[in-house]
Amino acid sequence: MRTTRVEPESHVPSPPTPANQPGDWDSLCGQVASCQRCGLHAGRTQTVFGVGARDAHWMIVGEAPGAEEDRRGEPFVGRAGKQLDEMLRAIGLSRETVFIANVLKCHPPGNRDPKPEEVAQCRPYLERQIGLIRPRLILAVGRVAAQNLLGTDAPLGRLRGRVHSFGERSTPLIVTYHPAYLLRAPAEKRKAWDDLKFACATLQSTQAATER
Ligand code: URA
Repeated sequence: MRTTRVEPESHVPSPPTPANQPGDWDSLCGQVASCQRCGLHAGRTQTVFGVGARDAHWMIVGEAPGAEEDRRGEPFVGRAGKQLDEMLRAIGLSRETVFIANVLKCHPPGNRDPKPEEVAQCRPYLERQIGLIRPRLILAVGRVAAQNLLGTDAPLGRLRGRVHSFGERSTPLIVTYHPAYLLRAPAEKRKAWDDLKFACATLQSTQAATER
């Protein structure tokens, strides 16, 4: 039986930057849109800020925009996006009711893994998004998102099935497979479904605890 105890994580603080100074949503959008903090800006069509409800209870965090996302300016709009939509639909959610963002706001060439310096430069934007949205639960999809959010190099298999804690507000964070991986390994969808049910139960139990 899984428990929903929130476990503390080591959390690497970001250096102060314009993006983690107090500021509102529009100024954050502007900062991201004009960002040149790493080399990825040179090859992008546009930045991919994120999409969804600004007061969402669920925040979904992926890795980085792919080529299609770079063209359209919206996260998870390619094949992996359709898979993510299906996962959300299975638990009664939609792109409009959650907020979807990525660790990186720019497309890495050839879909390579984000470099540590790119993640470090982009992290204040994600932290600020989380700070403004104040989600009740963060769902990290895939190894790259999970490892970067949690500041660990533990494999995804060890990060699933536990409630982690993110940031100063100790937001519960749950890890599941990346939708693109599920397209390649459909047999793992059952485990992803377990993760989603676990996330729903966690949200319910943390809500019940705060109402007590
Ligand atoms: N994969 C991601 O991690 N993010 C996207 O936005 C698209 C594909």
